[in-house]
Amino acid sequence: MTDVAGERTGVPEVAVPSVDVAPESQPIGWRHRHLLDVDGLVAADLELVMRTADAMREVLARPIAKVPALRGRSVTILFYEASTRTRVSFEVAAKNLSADVVNIAASASSVTKGESLVDTVRTIEALGAQMLVMRHGVSGAPYLAAEVFGGSVLNGGDGWHAHPTQALLDLYTMRSRLGGGPSGLGVAGRKVVILGDVLHSRVARSNIWSLTAAGADLWLCGPPTLLRGFEAWAGRGAAAGRRFTVTSDVSAALRDADVVMALRIQRERMSSGLLPSLREYAARYGLTAARVATAKPGALVMHPGPMNEGVEIAADVAAGPQSVITDQVTNGVAIRMALLYLLAGVSPAESAKP
Ligand code: NCD
Repeated sequence: MTDVAGERTGVPEVAVPSVDVAPESQPIGWRHRHLLDVDGLVAADLELVMRTADAMREVLARPIAKVPALRGRSVTILFYEASTRTRVSFEVAAKNLSADVVNIAASASSVTKGESLVDTVRTIEALGAQMLVMRHGVSGAPYLAAEVFGGSVLNGGDGWHAHPTQALLDLYTMRSRLGGGPSGLGVAGRKVVILGDVLHSRVARSNIWSLTAAGADLWLCGPPTLLRGFEAWAGRGAAAGRRFTVTSDVSAALRDADVVMALRIQRERMSSGLLPSLREYAARYGLTAARVATAKPGALVMHPGPMNEGVEIAADVAAGPQSVITDQVTNGVAIRMALLYLLAGVSPAESAKP
C-alpha cells in the first residue's frame, strides 16, 4: 500500500473496457484475480473501477439492462451472515452480466452439519463455480477461501475486517455527487467524516484505505471506546502521506465537512461497557439535522445500511434532501457489475495476488 499515496495526484488516464463484450476479449489494465480488500488497489485501479461502473450504469439505463459479457460463467454467492443489499445487489449484478448464479445460505447448507469452510469451497468449485462471492463472520475467512479456490473470490464482508465492494460503491457515490468529471476520483482534498461505531466496522476499515488513497481528508469520529486502535493507524497513515484524523469531538469533525457517513451501532458485535446507553449515544453522536447544519451547505449524508433511525442517524436526516443513501444502494449494482467484469478478465496465470 506504500505506493498509493504517491500516486494520488495526476491519476493516470485508464482505458475503459467495452462492457458489451467478454472481458477476456480485450486488453484491460486490471491484474487482481481476487477482491479481498481495497488495501492492494492503487489510484489507477480505483479509477478503472469507477470508469467501468460508469459504463455499467449506462447499461442499467437501457430498456433491457443486460449484457452478455459473462455468459456461461458460474457465480456462487455464499453468505454466512445476514444481508439484504449486498447479497441481492451481487445477484442482480451477476444476472445483468448474464452469468449463471447459484445462491447458498450457509444456514441451509451442509455447514450446519459441521462441514469446514475449506471443504465447502472445494465442493462449490467441484460443482462448477468460477467466481465466489462470500460473506463470513470471521475476519480473514475469504483469504483462506482464496487459497483453495481455483477461480476468483470477492469478499462481501468478513468480520470486522473488510468490505471492499461497500467502500468502492461509497467512493463511486461521492465521485458522482461531488463531481470531478469522468476522470479523477472526486474526493481529493474533500473532508469526509465517518461517524459512529468505527471499532466494529469493516465498512470503516475498507473506506480508510480507499478514501485516503483517493486523497480525501478523512476524519473518524465516535466515542473513545469505539475508536480504540485507530489513532495508531492514523499516525502510520500520516507518515505515509495520508490525511487521516481521529477524534471524539463531533463539532470539530463535522465543521465544514463535505461528506458525513454515519455507521450503525453494531449491537450484535458489542461487548458490554463500550457505551453507556443508546439514548446517550444518540444525544452525543447521533447525526441530527442540527449537526448536519454545521457541515458545508449541501454536504452529503451517507450510511451503508442497515440503519437504526433515531440512534446513529435521525429519520429526517436519513430521508432528507442531503441524503444519498438510496444512491449508495443503487450504485452498489453498477460497482458489483464492474468488479465481477474486471475480475472475470483475469486468468490465474496473469494475476497479481491478491
Ligand atoms: C454493513 C455490513 O454488513 O458490513 N452493511 C452493508 O453491507 N451495507 C454494515 C452494517 O452491518 O452495519
